[in-house]
Amino acid sequence: MCCAFSQAHDENDTMKSKIKVLFVIITVASLVVTVLTLYRFHTQLRLLTLKLSGQNPPPPHIVFIVADDLGWSDVSWHNPNIITPNLEKLARSGLILNYSYVAPRCSPTRASLLTGYYPHRIGLQYQVINYGDRSLPLTFDLLPRKLKDLGYATHMVGKWHLGLCSWKHTPTYRGFDSFFGYYSGREDYYTHCIGNKYDLNFNTDVFNDTKQQYSTFLFRDRAVEIINEHDPSVPLFLYLPFQAVHGSLTVPREYSKMYSHLHHDRATYSGMVTAMDKAIGDVVNALEQRGLSDNMLLVFLSDNGGRPIKGGYNWPLRGIKNTLWEGGTRAVNFVYSKTLLKETSSVSNHLMNAADWFPTFLAAAGSKDVDLDMDGVNQWDVISKGAKPVRSEHVYNIEGRAAIRVGEYKLIKGDPGFQLSEHQPVFDFIGRARKMANGWIAPQDIGTLKTKFGKPISKKYGLFNLHKDPLEEHDISEDFPDIVEQLIGRLHHHMNISVPFVKSTPMSSEYSQLKIMTPGWCDK
Ligand SMILES: *[C@@H]1O[C@H](CO)[C@@H](O)[C@H](O)[C@H]1NC(C)=O
Ligand SMILES: *[C@@H]1O[C@H](CO)[C@@H](O)[C@H](O)[C@H]1NC(C)=O
Ligand SMILES: *[C@@H]1O[C@H](CO)[C@@H](O)[C@H](O)[C@H]1NC(C)=O
Repeated sequence: MCCAFSQAHDENDTMKSKIKVLFVIITVASLVVTVLTLYRFHTQLRLLTLKLSGQNPPPPHIVFIVADDLGWSDVSWHNPNIITPNLEKLARSGLILNYSYVAPRCSPTRASLLTGYYPHRIGLQYQVINYGDRSLPLTFDLLPRKLKDLGYATHMVGKWHLGLCSWKHTPTYRGFDSFFGYYSGREDYYTHCIGNKYDLNFNTDVFNDTKQQYSTFLFRDRAVEIINEHDPSVPLFLYLPFQAVHGSLTVPREYSKMYSHLHHDRATYSGMVTAMDKAIGDVVNALEQRGLSDNMLLVFLSDNGGRPIKGGYNWPLRGIKNTLWEGGTRAVNFVYSKTLLKETSSVSNHLMNAADWFPTFLAAAGSKDVDLDMDGVNQWDVISKGAKPVRSEHVYNIEGRAAIRVGEYKLIKGDPGFQLSEHQPVFDFIGRARKMANGWIAPQDIGTLKTKFGKPISKKYGLFNLHKDPLEEHDISEDFPDIVEQLIGRLHHHMNISVPFVKSTPMSSEYSQLKIMTPGWCDK
């Protein structure tokens, strides 16, 4: 009995101490939550107070994430079969830019993003930069340099692809405080090699990744490191152009396994998208934890359309990467911010062009002298305040063939291209589709191997009404000759002010033999 009593007593005591511990835990937890809430509230209140008192709020941190060759139907908000929960959460709570245009391929788009000019005004309208045989001219001051002038710390992680003929052409000489990534346009995701050249660098040194890590996660880790080491009182510009989801088709198996019901290539590609989504989720978590996301503008953008031959699709948009159809040039794009957007959880149909990001970011950063002469227009008020649209015209590219949009009309000169014929077919239905120029191809996960065939443009010019016909099914050039004439006039204006393709500066034989991709043959 005594024993039993004492046991009961003990139990009672244990119970009491358990309750005490529980109480302490609850108290500490609520204190932590309160402090965090107050901190968050404090930051937002401080921003509001500054705004109300007419003072300039501190410039926002800017995180600019670019995906490579990501197609229109390769994100979950356009195709529910793709797994991108982190991106979708940001997109849906931010502002989706539904008519955001980029050039039909990589180097031209990236050149526009960092200069604020159309590719044909930079001299990078044709092809892409191959092995650094051409470089973005030094006459342009790049976005990171401008942001540095405004007090930003500027970091780049990922793909450069804008030339490396001289050291002066490379990221750390053009305004980035740090650069971790590769100079060329594509490479192996694990070995970081293109051909026989190793191409992974930290600032101006080769970075030897002896562990051969998957680049999506390697770049994530570097981005998180930058965020963790960053002094939050200094505005941060983080330019994060992923290698993903450009070919080659490579992803850790756990990601392709999520799509094992699909064709191997589509499954691998979709896994690559999901791995990138995971990396972005981790980067956003790091921004949250460091409190940077309270005064932050995050932009996600694809550099051009997807390539079905490498698993990326643009359905229902017509065309693919490297074509002037919407499928090659209308990018997946959204803006996310907790504090800077008036309209959130919405979709905007105003026209946006890759060149616009330059003045738009500068305006968001508080710059008073945004260059009004450049091709890019400042869209900050449109994006942040829902102001009236400022762009009514957009040049797709001028490269022999050309296309322009004015208002709802799009004029295409020459063959906009479908370009599957230069590749070997991966899927049977692509084999069939490529025989018929100007087809559409739906990804297999959208339904049964759907393809759709449009009429090729039969005349020198094709005209489409993108409001009534966003999928470019009906060439109306014969019905509206006046509009065709007007748009030809605008196109001629742009052709007239375009500059020649930049001079080739091929790699010297000494450099060609090196086993690393390294800048500098033009310096010698
Ligand atoms: C965005 O664009 C797509 C394709 O053109 C269109 O179907 C959709 O209605 C647009 N979304 C909104 C909200 O306007
Ligand atoms: C990286 O390190 C490994 C092992 O030390 C070495 O074999 C390789 O040559 C190095 N690569 C470069 C590009 O320095
Ligand atoms: C082309 O430029 C020249 C000289 O700058 C100008 O005289 C001419 O009118 C322009 N033509 C067009 C079609 O804009």
